[in-house]
Amino acid sequence: MGFYDEQVVPRLIDKGLGGKGFGRLRARAIRGVSGEVVEIGFGSGTNLPHYPTGVTKVWAVDPSAVGRQLAARRVAASPIPVEFVGLDGQDLPLADESVDCAVSTWTLCSIPDAGRAIAELRRVLRPGGTMHFLEHGHAPDPGVAKWQERLNPLQQKICGGCNLDRRIDSLISGAGFELTKLANFYIKGPKTFCYMYAGVATKS
Ligand SMILES: C[S@@+](CC[C@H](N)C(=O)[O-])C[C@H]1O[C@@H](n2cnc3c(N)ncnc32)[C@H](O)[C@@H]1O
Repeated sequence: MGFYDEQVVPRLIDKGLGGKGFGRLRARAIRGVSGEVVEIGFGSGTNLPHYPTGVTKVWAVDPSAVGRQLAARRVAASPIPVEFVGLDGQDLPLADESVDCAVSTWTLCSIPDAGRAIAELRRVLRPGGTMHFLEHGHAPDPGVAKWQERLNPLQQKICGGCNLDRRIDSLISGAGFELTKLANFYIKGPKTFCYMYAGVATKS
């Protein structure tokens, strides 16, 4: 990994996705999360201040060492214990059916095999456990989708492997989850980057 991906991208993400508007979306997405939680793409810990009081532990998974450094102040300020447990959401070092909830925000776009990462979350969730997600992806409007396809190669280069055109709902249900809640909407900004999938999926 080069200097830009290692040092610059995590800092840009921390700033770019750290604003108040995003905070409100994060809080809404992880409402209802409780017990032991695995979060893939933990990054700089931007979700941490929004976790509800019923959360007893966060198992954090992310390959970025700079993300971990940036997360340090949020981890120190949080009453919830955080343990960094792995570097790759596609291969979780957690036992089957060992956690209560899973969280992924703006991360399934960046994991090379997102379907495999979702299957891993399903494996480590206890039966009845829930995956809470807030992700951007493929837009239904043909004009927007066309630009997502066009810009995807550039986006991957400048934004840490991020894909603009993933169908997040299909990936989640394709991994065997039941989609119990799904909201699709555009957030403020260029539509190509801003079509969201937010919801809850259950391991039934
Ligand atoms: C756009 S950032 C989002 C960070 C954070 N989840 C947020 O909501 O602000 C994508 C994150 O996914 C992480 N990531 C990339 N590949 C990954 C993988 N294979 N497993 C887990 N996380 C990964 C990146 O290091 C980065 O922290």
